[in-house]
Amino acid sequence: MDTLTKFTLPGIALLLTLVFGIWLSSSGKPYNGILFNIHKLIALGAVIAAVIQLSKVLKGADSLTLIIALLVVAGLCAIALFASGALMSMEKMDYRLTLTIHQIAPVVMVIALALVAYLLMRKP
Ligand code: HEM
Repeated sequence: MDTLTKFTLPGIALLLTLVFGIWLSSSGKPYNGILFNIHKLIALGAVIAAVIQLSKVLKGADSLTLIIALLVVAGLCAIALFASGALMSMEKMDYRLTLTIHQIAPVVMVIALALVAYLLMRKP
C-alpha cells in the first residue's frame, strides 16, 4: 500500500470532522446533540486512524526530525481542539476565546499535516 492510500481513511475522517464542525457551528446554540457527538467521535476516529498509519509509515522515513516536529505541532493542535471543543460545550470559558482557538487550530493542523504528507511522499 503506498503512502497516499494509507492516509485516505484518516484524511476522509478529518474532512468529515471539518464538515460536521461547520454544520454544528451554523446550526447554532444550544448545540444539536447528534451533530455534536458525530463531530466529536469522527474527530477521535481521525486521530486514532492517523496515529496507527503514522506508526507504520514513519519507520525509515527521511527528514524524520522535521516530520516529528511537524507532528508535535499537529498533536498540540489536536489537544487544543479537544480541550476547546469540550470547554465550548460546557460553557466553562470565554466563548469567543475558545471558538477562536477552535477555528485557528484546524488551519495550523492541516498545514502541518500537508507538510508531513509532502515530506513522506517526496522521492529522495
Ligand atoms: C480533529 C479535531 C477537530 C477539528 C478539526 C474540529 C474542527 C471544527 C471546525 C472547523 C468547526 C467549525 C468552526 C466554525 O465554523 O466556526 C468546529 C466546531 C465545533 N467543534 Fe470541533 N473540531 C475538532 C474536534 C472537536 C471536539 C473533540 C469537540 C468536542 C469535544 C468539538 C466541538 C466543537 C463545537 C462545540 C463546535 C461548534 C462551535 C460554535 O460555533 O459554537 N470539536 N470544529
